[in-house]
Amino acid sequence: MVKEVNKAFVYGVSVDGNNFTDRVQETRRLKMNFENGLNVVLISPRRMGKTSLVKHVQEVVDKSMIQTVYVDIYDCRSEYDFYNKFAEALLKQTANKMELVLENIKRFLVRLAPKVSFNPDMTSEYSFSLGITPKEYSPEEILSLPEMLAQHIGKHIVVCIDEFQQIGEWPDSIYVQKRMRGVWQHQKHVSYCLFGSRQHMMTNIFQNKRMPFYQFGEPNYLQPIPTADWIPFIQSKFTEKGLSIKEEFVTKICDIVRNQSSYVQQLAWNVMLNTDTEVTEETIQHGMSDLLNQCTPLFMEQLNSLTTYQMNFLRAINDGQHDQWTSQEVLNKYNLGTKSNISRMQALLLEKDFIERREDGLYLSDPVLQLWLKQY
Ligand SMILES: Nc1ncnc2c1ncn2[C@@H]1O[C@H](COP(=O)(O)OP(=O)(O)O)[C@@H](O)[C@H]1O
Ligand SMILES: [Mg+2]
Repeated sequence: MVKEVNKAFVYGVSVDGNNFTDRVQETRRLKMNFENGLNVVLISPRRMGKTSLVKHVQEVVDKSMIQTVYVDIYDCRSEYDFYNKFAEALLKQTANKMELVLENIKRFLVRLAPKVSFNPDMTSEYSFSLGITPKEYSPEEILSLPEMLAQHIGKHIVVCIDEFQQIGEWPDSIYVQKRMRGVWQHQKHVSYCLFGSRQHMMTNIFQNKRMPFYQFGEPNYLQPIPTADWIPFIQSKFTEKGLSIKEEFVTKICDIVRNQSSYVQQLAWNVMLNTDTEVTEETIQHGMSDLLNQCTPLFMEQLNSLTTYQMNFLRAINDGQHDQWTSQEVLNKYNLGTKSNISRMQALLLEKDFIERREDGLYLSDPVLQLWLKQY
């Protein structure tokens, strides 16, 4: 057995146990929703902690009543891509042995049984592929699978679908969404937790009256973890390593990255690497400049896809311009092209998640990109 190294800070992947902090209220609420069979929609910017939170709730939920199933559909490109992933996750996570999975396939998806192949090594983590096509099963049949499984295992099933915004990208998306909702809303022993990033897309799917998933579940916006909760978390991590950090410096770390969870952990880790005994203004600055360097390749790649006008638009926001986008003066000052171009440009930058709309106008979504643009 390889001993796991105890890394002080973790970022970029979902976190659990010792690396998961706070979220007491959110956990409680989500747990209640799961246990009471309510559909949940969870929205936040990327890397704020949705996946970590849902996985945490999966752990603490009353397992004698509830069976949770988690499926990430980030790489699903079409409706049937999704049905395969969906059915696989359901079959695998509602049975704890390969034999039972096989039984359930024969029970509920018998037309597939001849072509499903299992990894023959029974002891290792098994994998299988269903290869469902429209020839064998209609969408409605696959969408009904959770209800059949719930009745079979005698527990309520909560299906948690991560990166749900992907469905907005599929061919005939609206039509597919209609079908899903049509089947799911009648299920008595199944509820859904649908969550994802790209706020713009998620909000459109769930809050637009003309869209099939309108009011399917109450939209919850996951808020950043407050600084007051980061303070004991980060301080204890430093103490474990024989180092110390004053409250004011934790606050500074949180402020710099506007409490975006992943960046808080990444910056805290950078600062720790630059610290011999105690955190100072200087080690914070070092950590910060390391963070900007680490982000450079990604930002360059993201910005590469933008036109000059779109880049100028981001620069304008970074310069403190948040509204009055059709004023000729603003258009000239930042070289944004014509008035008629502006709303299309905004829509695209919103959709790509570069910017977000707040009460008083448009802002950059990524706090570190903002700092990076100032510097480079
Ligand atoms: N409750 C939490 N406590 C501490 N760090 C967290 C927490 N939630 C998220 N993070 C940080 O944010 C990163 C991204 O979390 P993740 O759950 O993958 O976010 P999302 O699913 O919203 O993109 C994690 O790697 C971790 O660094
Ligand atoms: Mg996630």
